[in-house]
Order: sequence, then structure tokens, then C-alpha cells
Amino acid sequence: MVRDIVVLGHPALRSHAEPVAEFDDELRTLVDDLFETMYHAEGIGLAANQIGILRQVLVVDIGDKENAEAGRVALVNPKITAATHELDRQSEGCLSIPGVEEVVERPWGVRVEGFDPEGNAVTVEAEALLGRALQHEVDHLEGTLFIDRLSPLKRRLLVKKWKKSRTEAGSIK
Ligand code: NI
Repeated sequence: MVRDIVVLGHPALRSHAEPVAEFDDELRTLVDDLFETMYHAEGIGLAANQIGILRQVLVVDIGDKENAEAGRVALVNPKITAATHELDRQSEGCLSIPGVEEVVERPWGVRVEGFDPEGNAVTVEAEALLGRALQHEVDHLEGTLFIDRLSPLKRRLLVKKWKKSRTEAGSIK
């Protein structure tokens, strides 16, 4: 089921998600809904906070046609356990702050440990776009947004631009 994605200003985006204890059908429905909602919104990643559910669940699909399975990940209780010293600077956006993008510096590669929706322990080694997407979504589960990784000046300008675009679109009354 496609769920509503909450946007900047919603408290769920600033909350820590709780670890999942039960790997049950409810969890698997949540994972399905996250994928469906992400594809519907044409994003490459989505965390449960973004649909207002404070559980440590994320999905990512970077749309790698040649290696579709490797680029499609659902992780429960994920933790970043290693990161490269090498940093990467790329433009980043977020479905919860639609319409704006900014360059964010992050480690180029990460190791993420967690569980799949069946409860099996998994380790994902991810670089470049997949590594970035996973870092962005793990941040969400901790109440952190990509704008927090910008300089205060850039963050202010970006939020201002976002609010202006929302007002012009008639979204804010
Ligand atoms: Ni996001």
C-alpha cells in the first residue's frame, strides 16, 4: 500500500526509530509498503520515519539494471559498522524535503550490518550511490536529515528555498 510521506516539520523526522524485536508479518507488510511508497514517489530510498512509523526499517533501490538484486536492499535495525576514509561529494535530495538538492560530503563506502525482513543477520558492503543512499536512510532512523550535514548557511538557504517553493505551490496556508 502506498503511504503518505511526511515532510520537513513533522516530528517523526526528528525522532529516533525503535529497534524491531519481532520479525513478523506486520514487519514484512511495512517493508512492502516502504518499497511501494518509494517506487510511487520515484525515490531511491525510504526510511520508516518518513511514513510516520518509528521503527528501524529502511529500503533502498538504486535502480541498477545490470545488478538489480545488489542494488535493492531492505534492512532492519541497521548499523553502520565501518566507513572508508575516502569521502565523496554528490548532490543529494530527500522525499521528505521535495524539490531541493544540495551537495553532501559522505564516506564513499560503508559497511552496514543489520537484519533482513526474515530476521537473518546481513552485512552489506556498499560504495558510491548505494553507500550514499544507505547512509542517508540510516540517518533518517536516527532523526537526522541530509540538511544537517550542510553548513549552517547552506542549510538556511536550502530550507528557505524549500519553504518558498511550498508556498508557491499552495501547500502552505
Ligand atoms: Ni531522505
